[in-house]
Amino acid sequence: MISNTRLLELAAEYGTPLFVYDGSLMLERYYDLFKFIHNPRLKIHYALKANYNPGLLELLRDAGAGIDAVSPAEVRLALHLGYSPDRIIYTANNMTDAEYDRVAATGVIINIGSLSRLKKCAKNYPGSRICLRFNPDVCDGDNEKTMTGGDLTKFGILLDAVEEVKAIVKSGNLHIIGLHEHTGSGLQHIESVLQSMRNLMAIATRENFPELEFLDFGGGFKVPYRPDEKPVDYVSMGQQIDALFDEFCRNYGKDLIMRFEPGKYLSAECGTLITEVNTIKHNRTRTIAGCNSGFPQLIRPVLYDAYHHIENLSNPAGAPQVYDICGNICETGDRFAEQRELPEIREYDLLAIRNAGAYCYSMGSIYNLRAMPTEIVVVDGKVIHINNRMNDEDLIKSVLARTGKQVAK
Ligand code: LLP
Repeated sequence: MISNTRLLELAAEYGTPLFVYDGSLMLERYYDLFKFIHNPRLKIHYALKANYNPGLLELLRDAGAGIDAVSPAEVRLALHLGYSPDRIIYTANNMTDAEYDRVAATGVIINIGSLSRLKKCAKNYPGSRICLRFNPDVCDGDNEKTMTGGDLTKFGILLDAVEEVKAIVKSGNLHIIGLHEHTGSGLQHIESVLQSMRNLMAIATRENFPELEFLDFGGGFKVPYRPDEKPVDYVSMGQQIDALFDEFCRNYGKDLIMRFEPGKYLSAECGTLITEVNTIKHNRTRTIAGCNSGFPQLIRPVLYDAYHHIENLSNPAGAPQVYDICGNICETGDRFAEQRELPEIREYDLLAIRNAGAYCYSMGSIYNLRAMPTEIVVVDGKVIHINNRMNDEDLIKSVLARTGKQVAK
């Protein structure tokens, strides 16, 4: 972990708000997975949507990871950064014909999650090698908005539609080389991971799909967001995953590749958003610490009621007090934390918002016309990659560029 002293130095050097990513920690998390799961044919495809920072993607590329991409631009970014097509899987939902065509032309395998798209594939791309996404029929996740299995979600083909799937596959002479499921994000129970695997394996028979090369069990591995949160027993989970998959391969009669697609597990904990408090204000019952960042830069608390741990970097020994930690956006809901106890916050103190490496910058926007912060990637204490904040002039140019107007001198 990057020390708080180092975070203060980096904030002084690069200004705030600032995203700092600990590349060493992300790689440690990547290698962790190979310690938990021992199958020699395990492949980790990082869910790029969690954080598309090129510095992080280069580290994972060099470590041997693959990519789970969900838009043609994510595919292009990964290809541009040197991931070969065979290391990428494209899992969009509700994709257009044009998107399909663009990705098919790159040679990246497409993961199809609806009968409608499968029919179009059989018609337009007969003979192609594809993957099929099924709904695992298991509901889990840290938030109902991010649960992807079960009746209420838009994802995947129903498990009981296998016969229909087979008929379409036959009509287009398609080659099903992979099956996929994703249960949700922040899976609370090991049993959910295992049950989803079992449900997919139950239809992954030689009889149904004789040409399988891999099974992909999605992402969703949970990381602790609260300091007192009990970590998942990944050693035990890994053993159970290995046992299940071994048994499956024996029954199938072939050693398939086992894929997972973690996003949060790899990148959440490696990120910290440093923000400066510029205003302390007492509103009768509440003390408000107003910062120079806001929910467009880290939306998870507002969107999912997610807890992000916050530390006072510059006054760690201050007497504890209770604060609403608010941003600089013109909305009352613009809070990183409500009624949170922290060491006394003074104006110009720097706060560290933890677990800001997954679904923070990548879900960011320029709402209120505030540019997204600079991001830096640190490996072994050294800054190896900088993504600069856009200055206001460039931000305005980017807005005006799309109208075809020139910036007034
Ligand atoms: N594979 C597929 C097909 C997915 O849809 C996702 C996430 C993943 C893998 C990676 O899941 P992870 O390991 O990161 O949990 N914005 C939300 C999370 C959305 C997840 C969307 N899909 C959040 O901030 O909690």
